[in-house]
Amino acid sequence: MSERVKLTRRRWIESMGATAGALSAAACRPGQEESGGPPGARGAATPEAVGERVSVDFQLDGEPKKLEVETRATLLDLLRLDLGLTGAKRVCDRGACGACMVLVDGLPHNSCMMLAADVDGSKVETVASLGEGEALGALQKAFIARDASQCGFCTPGMLVSCTALLRRGEKLDRAQVQRGIAGNLCRCGTYPHVIEAVLDASGGASEGGQPA
Ligand code: FES
Ligand code: FES
Repeated sequence: MSERVKLTRRRWIESMGATAGALSAAACRPGQEESGGPPGARGAATPEAVGERVSVDFQLDGEPKKLEVETRATLLDLLRLDLGLTGAKRVCDRGACGACMVLVDGLPHNSCMMLAADVDGSKVETVASLGEGEALGALQKAFIARDASQCGFCTPGMLVSCTALLRRGEKLDRAQVQRGIAGNLCRCGTYPHVIEAVLDASGGASEGGQPA
């Protein structure tokens, strides 16, 4: 390999390192999240921050909560480990499957990708609060009627994403529902049933009958 190529490769690696460092510094900058950064972006825990705890004051399923969490704890850790709430499922733990989906201030978020500290002052809703009191909500009834759940592991996350869609208050079409559940993986392949259920619940254009 020529000296010129080696030099170019070394420079490239050096420049990549510098870019990664700059990005990492930007992600940890205080106030970054207010400027439109992704939820949890201030997340990467430095070695010094491990074990550090902060107070989080938020609303969970309609109830006020105030507790101390480790700065590195995710919202999913907070829900499942600290509060014993198992509605949000831990499957991939890396933002790829949607099983841990919850609503934060009305918007769907993968709780495994969001720091618990970042929900301070927010309203968090899990699948547990999506019914009508103790009774099933219209979407849950539609899931049953359309047989939209098999093993059920993806179902809480699906219900959360679909609730966010339905709260738009408009008649949904098939493409909107497909986009709305694009972040929710179902290994049982219930997608056509889920789509029909959401269309039923929204009064949107369903083909009628049971999906194949
Ligand atoms: S467990 Fe959070 S996206 Fe898969
Ligand atoms: S119903 Fe089994 S993963 Fe979706």
